Amino acid sequence: MTKRPSFAQDLESADNATVSRPTSPSLRDVWQMRLSRRAVLSGLGTTGLMLGASTSLMALAACDDKQKDETAKSAPAGTSSFTFEEIAHGVDETHHVAPGYVASILMRWGDPVVASAPAFDPMNQSAAAQRLQFGYNNDYVGFVPLPFGSDASDRGLLCINHEYTNDDLMFPGLEGKELKDALTLEQVEISMAAHGGSVIEIAKGADGKWAHVLESPYNRRITTLDTQMGLSGPAAGHPRLQTVEDPTGTKVIGTVNNCAGGITPWGTYLMAEENVNMYFMGAAEEGPEKASMERMGIPANKYPWGKYHKRFDVNAEPHECNRFGWIVEVDVLDPTSVPIKRTALGRFKHEGAETTQSADGRLVIYMGDDQSNEYLYKYVSTDKVNKADRSANQTLLDEGTLYVATFMPDGTGVWRALIHGENGLDATNGFADQGDVLIDARRAGDVLGATPLDRPEDVQPDPITGKVYLALTNNDERTADKLDAVNTRAENLWGQIVEITPQDNDHANLNFAWDMLVQCGNPADAATEAGWNAATSANGWFANPDNLAVDAKGRLWVATDQGSKWSKNTQSADGIFALETSGALRGTGRMFFRVPVGAEMCGPCFTPDSKTFFVAVQHPAADGTKNFPGFEAESSFEKPATRWPDFSPAMPPRPSLVVITAENGGIIGG
Ligand code: FEO
Ligand code: CA
Ligand code: CA
Ligand code: CA
Repeated sequence: MTKRPSFAQDLESADNATVSRPTSPSLRDVWQMRLSRRAVLSGLGTTGLMLGASTSLMALAACDDKQKDETAKSAPAGTSSFTFEEIAHGVDETHHVAPGYVASILMRWGDPVVASAPAFDPMNQSAAAQRLQFGYNNDYVGFVPLPFGSDASDRGLLCINHEYTNDDLMFPGLEGKELKDALTLEQVEISMAAHGGSVIEIAKGADGKWAHVLESPYNRRITTLDTQMGLSGPAAGHPRLQTVEDPTGTKVIGTVNNCAGGITPWGTYLMAEENVNMYFMGAAEEGPEKASMERMGIPANKYPWGKYHKRFDVNAEPHECNRFGWIVEVDVLDPTSVPIKRTALGRFKHEGAETTQSADGRLVIYMGDDQSNEYLYKYVSTDKVNKADRSANQTLLDEGTLYVATFMPDGTGVWRALIHGENGLDATNGFADQGDVLIDARRAGDVLGATPLDRPEDVQPDPITGKVYLALTNNDERTADKLDAVNTRAENLWGQIVEITPQDNDHANLNFAWDMLVQCGNPADAATEAGWNAATSANGWFANPDNLAVDAKGRLWVATDQGSKWSKNTQSADGIFALETSGALRGTGRMFFRVPVGAEMCGPCFTPDSKTFFVAVQHPAADGTKNFPGFEAESSFEKPATRWPDFSPAMPPRPSLVVITAENGGIIGG
């Protein structure tokens, strides 16, 4: 066992760190102020929330003994529409799904994406093979029914992001070595080819089982290594996007750290570029890019790509990093199409890009910036979505307005536009033009007084109710000296989910109301100050909400990512939880699926009929395995904590896509 932090831990620490920036009240401050006031005015019992008994919120509520008694009452009455029997918290070498459901492996790292791909050979990997094979660390999963325009649930294109690589688990012979020194050019290029995305056609056979259609012309790999992309929108061609290799500032090779994403109404696949700082090496030098780099934590010096590909060395090419951190649009119905980085959607650590529409039919995209104390954004297109003519939507992601959110203590909020020349976004604050505003969207958010959040992950609109769910995953950087009487979650290890209601039920409206759905953590441990519906069982609560999905019935499903802190936060592996959002059971969780040790839960995605559920198991054997009873070591290629899903001594653990169906053929969750 090496004393060096694992590669996974090393990435995690950079992922969580707050970058230097001005400060304003956090959403936690705002929430606590609001909750405490509501506790006093209305009584917590009316919200259905059960809070840790010794919290200062409770102390405030205890001003009124009657309210205290109400809060202590047992679970409220209510009947769930979820009929599945939940599984138990726990951790072991494999995955688990609720009784009555079947979870099958659909694609694994290394499986052929196109028919010409060689079979996976972990001891003889090559970049040439990897660029044709399923990439590493499957994260976002989107489904585009085929034929396009139908709501088919038996055939379609799966769009899967490959967020990053765990090089120490991918390649033999690295145990105990410093990855930055040990990785060869070929290994670096395998890693670059294992990043990006896969588009695969899948179909349900006569036996009811899903399979990859290997001969499909739609099958496609998108990589960091060699996929040519374009840049469009207001920042395209900007001097700060021009490099030695691309003096036009309009072309870039590859996309990286594609976390979550979205599918547009015209069937294109949006890939969010998240922790792009990891891939740049060197040091931010004095000069025009220094402040911008520091605001994005660039360079983070985590992957040694810049040793072999100079564009990833900020001292050799200070503008390449400005060409990452965008939303990429891929037309999956044309496998020869050039993916486009849409600069109108801003540059930050994009978690995802879930889409919906305004009351008058314009496209609206909600986007979190996943880092401690960063912001929530939305984009509203200028023109309306044209569902009858796909090609009429090509400018919707270039012409529109980007907004950033400010949450008010009274349960309201406002969206402020990132428009050059308005509200201080001008030369006095270092913005020469709209390109600068978009390239440095974080700095623009600072100027606009946006609310720093506890790491905004997925932001999921519910198409039935019009509400929007925001997963805030944790913020362990919150210090006790920043608390006041009601700001009780210093070192927030557990996260929370916020519900946003656009004014007039219109996603283009610049005003919204917000409320807390759940405050995560163990409700039986008062120290967590968790807030759940009292009906939540000992297995139904969770920590660290990340990816979200809404099913055909408008019900919310949550994927968790605790990282290496799983043994501290829940003592359970990550998983999928159903979460009630309305009625007397609002705020009740129920565990549906659990990942193998060291893995993170990603996906999740439903077919239109919600009878198939795709979930993505990322980096099995990676996170926190030194706390896995009976193993108690960092994993390596040679000795991983699990060899899921193959359980073959010749095969390393493999990130894999899992397809879940009900044994009775019914809707997932009942
Ligand atoms: Fe890649 Fe925000 O998780
Ligand atoms: Ca995520
Ligand atoms: Ca989602
Ligand atoms: Ca994640």
